[in-house]
Amino acid sequence: MTTLAPPAKSAIAKDFGAASKTYNPAARLQRYMGQVMLDQLQEGQCLQGTNAGCRVLDLGCGTGWFTDQLADMFNGSRDVVTGADLSPGMLDYARAAGAPGIRWLAADAESLPLKDNSLDVVFSNLMIQWCRHSSAVLAECRRVLRPGGQLFVSTLLDGTLDELRQAWHRADPGQEHVNQFESEAGFRSQTLEVLPEHRITTESIALDYPSPLALLAELKAIGAGFKGSSRRRSATAPGRLRTMCHHYPKGSDGRIHATYRAAWLTCHLPD
Ligand SMILES: C[S@@+](CC[C@H](N)C(=O)[O-])C[C@H]1O[C@@H](n2cnc3c(N)ncnc32)[C@H](O)[C@@H]1O
Repeated sequence: MTTLAPPAKSAIAKDFGAASKTYNPAARLQRYMGQVMLDQLQEGQCLQGTNAGCRVLDLGCGTGWFTDQLADMFNGSRDVVTGADLSPGMLDYARAAGAPGIRWLAADAESLPLKDNSLDVVFSNLMIQWCRHSSAVLAECRRVLRPGGQLFVSTLLDGTLDELRQAWHRADPGQEHVNQFESEAGFRSQTLEVLPEHRITTESIALDYPSPLALLAELKAIGAGFKGSSRRRSATAPGRLRTMCHHYPKGSDGRIHATYRAAWLTCHLPD
């Protein structure tokens, strides 16, 4: 069984803050996965009839891209859309770029400074995989949602970035270079504990890159580089990097792909 060694929250907040200006153009996986949830939300009950006064939280809002979309979707209720994030740097960016009226909140998803039963919708795109205990985050979401409220969460599971993990394993055996992801079985059982009414769908997504270095550059641009406690400064010394690139599987045109094991959790709480 793999031991998960989640990165320190300070490293997460710092790295994402440092990436706030490069994040949006590089976030193609994030856009795709969040759009799936926006579409589900659009079809959902909260949007049938009036949205006025619907209280919405974008949890782990990053640059606020989806917070803005949510504020548009719930038109007329900007003042009840909140974007919350652990990273002050991300929040500064979101506050400066976002539509007026959105409320921005510095908060840790594992311990939300929000009242019980105070929200109608919680939307959280690709945040929960950065948290130590997904069940703690889901329990917080359940606590702050009102009866009948709706939860939309996306995450990445074990199998994500496996080509990169294996290439690094061959270049630098025994050293971690890629963040770990929860197993599908683990995520399902943690969710079941807290939200028996949930639904989970999964998909394997392969993104194409000109080279392994382009993949590393994209991860850095979105702030998602390796953050494990075993991170060391010389990890990407040129010799090791070259060896990793050599071992990364390539197509006949020299291009590579990276696999992402995507999961979406939806839950409509009972009234
Ligand atoms: C990959 S980004 C996703 C941002 C945004 N949801 C999007 O779709 O573009 C992950 C975000 O989660 C935030 N985050 C990580 N751990 C968190 C935590 N424990 N509580 C709140 N936010 C957290 C990071 O600071 C970062 O902004």
